[in-house]
Order: sequence, then structure tokens, then C-alpha cells
Amino acid sequence: MTTMKAVRIHAYGGPEVLTYEDVPLPAIAEDDVLIRVHAAAINPVDWKIREGYLQGFIDYDLPLILGWDVSGVVEAVGVNVTTFKPGDEVYSRPDIQRDGTYAEFVAVKASEVALKPKTVDHVHAAAVPLAGITAWHCLFEAAQLSPGQRVLIHAAAGGVGSYAVQFAHWKGAHVIGTASARNRDFLLELGADEVIDYQTTQFEDVVNPVDVVFDTVGGDVQERSWQVVKPGGILVSVISPPPEEKAAAHQCRSAYVFIQPRADWLTEMAQLIDQGQVKPIVETVLPLDQVVEAHKLSQSGRTRGKIVLQVRE
Ligand SMILES: NC(=O)c1ccc[n+]([C@@H]2O[C@H](COP(=O)([O-])OP(=O)(O)OC[C@H]3O[C@@H](n4cnc5c(N)ncnc54)[C@H](OP(=O)(O)O)[C@@H]3O)[C@@H](O)[C@H]2O)c1
Repeated sequence: MTTMKAVRIHAYGGPEVLTYEDVPLPAIAEDDVLIRVHAAAINPVDWKIREGYLQGFIDYDLPLILGWDVSGVVEAVGVNVTTFKPGDEVYSRPDIQRDGTYAEFVAVKASEVALKPKTVDHVHAAAVPLAGITAWHCLFEAAQLSPGQRVLIHAAAGGVGSYAVQFAHWKGAHVIGTASARNRDFLLELGADEVIDYQTTQFEDVVNPVDVVFDTVGGDVQERSWQVVKPGGILVSVISPPPEEKAAAHQCRSAYVFIQPRADWLTEMAQLIDQGQVKPIVETVLPLDQVVEAHKLSQSGRTRGKIVLQVRE
């Protein structure tokens, strides 16, 4: 076999540039594993890259296979790889600078791969890496969230937010999430202590000061968030760097996070999932050739949990 099915873009643009086609099988370097993809999750960065939003930040050679979340089975390993063997069930958020996971196979550095959680299927495992690493990085590395602290999580029902709520609850924090009314019960079940309907309530009018704000929305939401951070607290954003002078004016800290692959955190997350502490939330499953529909859904901004492309049963 020399070719596989994949979804590539040959030019930046709207969903119509997504092309389901035959492409060459990826070659593996000496430190790579070749993963037979069972499922690949959608993330907003996929359609941001499709639209050309990251041009100048990452210079891609088109055509490019999109998608940077995978769960699957190791098919082959490079000559230097001793940590995995063919047949291992793995998951990963691979390097975003290489061809991605909307494909039957993907080559990934072994150091970016972890064994997948045993208690969930590939569709649910694929929903973890990118969003999970983002929530973990922001809460536990950037903000050093500790038991008893108060955290406000914006867009708590989304891909990143739904992990952030569960991780913060597991850590023993007091969790406040923003979402529309339809997601209230969903978030309470995930472990939120308070849910604020952002469509009817200005969060800064009702939230008592918090140690950590996790901003996954940006703009006006980030700007208004300064009002609720305690002195000594932190505002962490994955959308845009919060201005340092604003942090200083509020006697708090700020951080901007752009995530990188972290297999060690994926191993910890797999343990939490297998212990029943955290569950991946998958709202929609579509076949690989319906990627256009998947992107349109993601761009609606209303996703609860994740949208996943199932590549193989
Ligand atoms: N810098 C990084 O490394 C990094 C990593 C991951 C993600 N991100 C970025 O983080 C953002 C979130 O990612 P995601 O995967 O979580 O997106 P997502 O799953 O598409 O988020 C959808 C959720 O956003 C909620 N929402 C929309 N507007 C809101 C508002 N004004 N207030 C509160 N909730 C709102 C919706 O809730 P309702 O339906 O209830 O309105 C929905 O549940 C994206 O822009 C993504 O690109 C950055």
C-alpha cells in the first residue's frame, strides 16, 4: 500500500478547501511511530489554520493534512524507537508543524505519544489530547491551581472548558463556569460549583474574587475578567496575551499559553480517565469524508465537549 485517504488543504479558505483525497502514505523518521488512525478530533485551531490565520506564525508548505488529535494503533516504529511497538493503542497531540491526523495514518514523534486510556474507545480518547493538554497547562503549570482556590473558567462547556472544569474539580478547587443556560446542568454534573449564564448575566457583577481566571474567549471577556481576579491571583489566556500593565494595575499576574505536545501529561490524564475522575465529552461523531460539516459545526462556537472524526471502526 502506498496511498491512503486523507483530508488536505491546497489553499487557505473556507470549508470548501477541505479536500478528501488519496495521498501518499507518510514516511516515518527514525524517532517516529506510524499510527493507524481510528479517530481524530476537531479543534478550533484546525479551521483557524485552514483560513490562514496562523500564516507568519507557522509557515506551512501546502498541501497540508489538518488535525492534531489522534487515537489509534501503532503500525510501525522508527529504528530508534524503543518505547512503543506495533499493536500498542496510543493517543497524541502531535507537532502542529507537521501533517496532521485527518488521515488513515499519521507519523508522530514517539516522544509525543502516550498509551491511550484503556476504559474509553478511540473516539473518546481522540477527544482528549489537545483540549486536555491546554486545560492542564493553564490550570496546573501556568496558574499552579491548588485545593481550595477559586477558579473562573470561561466557555466552560467547550472542548477546553469541559476538561478544565473536571480537572479543577478533581484538584479540589471551587469551580465557576460561564456558559449559556442550556449547559447549566451539564456543567454542574461535570463538577462546577457555580454556573453563570453569560447571555443574561455579566459575570463581573456576580462573581466573588477568584484566584484564577481561565480565559478561552478573549476580547471583552478577557478585559472584564480583571475585575474579578484577587490581588496575587492570575489571569491565564489561550486567546491573546493579557497586557502586563493591566496585571500590574490589578496587583495580579498574567500568562498566555500556546500549547505544545506533552506525552507525560497525556499519561496522567489517561490514569484519571481510567480511575473515572474525568470523562471525555463527545457531542458529535462524523466520518472522515464529512469533515466539511464538522468544521461548520465547530465554527458555530456552540460545541459542547468535542466533535470527532471517526476514521476506522
Ligand atoms: N493557545 C492555545 O494553545 C489554545 C489551545 C486550545 C484552544 N485554544 C483556543 O481556545 C478557544 C476555545 O477552544 P475550545 O476548543 O474550547 O472551543 P469550542 O469547543 O469551540 O468552544 C465552544 C464553547 O464556547 C462557549 N462559548 C462561546 N462563546 C462564549 C462566551 N462569550 N462565554 C462563555 N462561553 C462561550 C459555548 O458555550 P454555549 O454553547 O453555552 O454558548 C461552547 O460550549 C478557541 O479559540 C481555541 O482556538 C487555544
